[in-house]
Amino acid sequence: MCGIVGYIGEKQAQPVLLNCLGRLEYRGYDSCGIAVLDSSVEVYKDAVRVKALEKAAPKLRGKAGIGHTRWATHGEPSKKNAHPHCGCRGEIAVVHNGVINNYQSLREQLASEGHKLVSDTDTEVIPHLIEKYYDGDLEKAVARALRDIEGSYAIIVLREGEPKLVAARKDTPLVIGIGDRENFIASDVPAVLDYTSRVIYLEDGDIAVVTADSIKVTGEGVRVEREEQKVMWSVEDAQKGGYEHFMLKEIHEQPKVIRDTLGQYISATEPAADLAVVGGDGLEDLLLLACGTSYHAALIGKYLIEELARVPVRVEIASEFNYNGRIAARSRAIVITQSGETADALRVIKRLKEEGCQVITITNVVGSTASRIANQVVYTHAGPEISVAATKTFIAQLIALYWLALPYSQIDISRLDNLMTGLRQLPTKVEQVLDSEAEIAECAGYLAGFDNVFFIGRGINFPVALEGAWKLKEISYIHAEGCAAGELKHGPLALLGKDTPAVAIVARDNNYESMLTNIKEVKARRSPVLAIAEEGDESIGELADWVISVPPVDSIFSPVVNTVALQLLAYYTAKQRGCPIDFPRNLAKSVTVE
Ligand code: F6R
Repeated sequence: MCGIVGYIGEKQAQPVLLNCLGRLEYRGYDSCGIAVLDSSVEVYKDAVRVKALEKAAPKLRGKAGIGHTRWATHGEPSKKNAHPHCGCRGEIAVVHNGVINNYQSLREQLASEGHKLVSDTDTEVIPHLIEKYYDGDLEKAVARALRDIEGSYAIIVLREGEPKLVAARKDTPLVIGIGDRENFIASDVPAVLDYTSRVIYLEDGDIAVVTADSIKVTGEGVRVEREEQKVMWSVEDAQKGGYEHFMLKEIHEQPKVIRDTLGQYISATEPAADLAVVGGDGLEDLLLLACGTSYHAALIGKYLIEELARVPVRVEIASEFNYNGRIAARSRAIVITQSGETADALRVIKRLKEEGCQVITITNVVGSTASRIANQVVYTHAGPEISVAATKTFIAQLIALYWLALPYSQIDISRLDNLMTGLRQLPTKVEQVLDSEAEIAECAGYLAGFDNVFFIGRGINFPVALEGAWKLKEISYIHAEGCAAGELKHGPLALLGKDTPAVAIVARDNNYESMLTNIKEVKARRSPVLAIAEEGDESIGELADWVISVPPVDSIFSPVVNTVALQLLAYYTAKQRGCPIDFPRNLAKSVTVE
């Protein structure tokens, strides 16, 4: 989604803005642009990558400026639709992340008043409205303009003759980076990490006026104090560290991520969260909601909570639930969102709370909107995830779910002890999967030659099949479908054959024999079979064409080792096909529009 940055200080703004924009590339974008303030506001923008813009842009002189990476929603990617957008007189420039719902009526109104709008975007109404209301006080004009706007926004405004940045947010994140005689504004922390780790998170309704040495925040027209926070992520965390892609680095970080996440939970003095139904003394039922890969984590959560705590768990896709879902009285919900900024996830949190439901969010981003609006927060400690495809945050979400579920276990004490030991051993088990990287890369070389792939699994590994297919399709562009293995014969089997392989995820659990039968059904249709199976599983060795072995773990933890193998499989398949792994086409890291 769009990324926005602002700078004001003693340095030339252009190189700082371009560097900050480079750090936001991971969010996904199709165009970019900057505006720099000197005696006038100079804008340079195009439908190109940041590096290309850097090469082509003239040297704009000035020590204050704003920048933007655009992920098109209204109007195709093009120079005229790229941000910053200006008013009629070119004195005011605005960058915006979010969606203006009533932009059509505002455009018509502005046009009837003589404003000439030149782009197809919703954003362009903002500088025109500010221009319309400006009477010498930029902050006031911004506040007045925002009253006309329905929708979501994080904006930064620059105006000729005013050495300051005015920023505002509603339903879209915005952070101020505090420097030494310089300040930064950005949609996301990694943008400013090269310069500072001191930040202020703005809240909905805030308007900030930022100069090189002052920050003034008002909410609802009154001065408010927003607490300064220290970002624990380092610049190195947000760099590739010698790996060819962020995704590969992030896959390799997973043993550490599990250790860090578990370590934080174990050392905490308070329980991670209270899942018990309000007014009850135990866990009665649960609703889990999320989008995309986080939804697959929620599905795994259902299997493990139902097995351990023996209570029914319902899982819903957040965007579906927002319009069609019903909640039961006394419900507790867990909303899983690694970014904490996904529009569908935020909407679901708000709706659930309005209906009296207690909401726990599992998120990776401290200070994210989800963390601020949910009733309880469980953080994962995965560090910044830059690659668009979620890997380490997904594994960290699973660790959070295990940790949340275990205290409510109805299983006997010796199994519980074994599970606690198994949980602590997971980093080592994941390291063993990573040791098989070369063999997995070889399998990927084979898989890369196909156009369609099925992923099949049962029980707790059915969502793993969904996630394996999801990862493969998003980064390799191979059509991949995840399927409950028992469903094959009810439809998908029609598509299987020698040109369509199946990746079978086989755990040593109560589904094992049925999985063997399903693999035989697939083989009978001459489909090549690639199995992810436990080391030493001879039956699978005889049946499958390729086997990726994973170390033995309690079957409840099998999603962790199996998913890591599937992440590597997707990575090397995409690499073989020459795909832009970290930034797949049309996708964005933080999906801030519904
Ligand atoms: C896929 C992926 C997405 C996200 C989804 C939800 O690799 O990353 O499917 O899982 O956009 O994002 P969060 O978890 O930030 O709400």
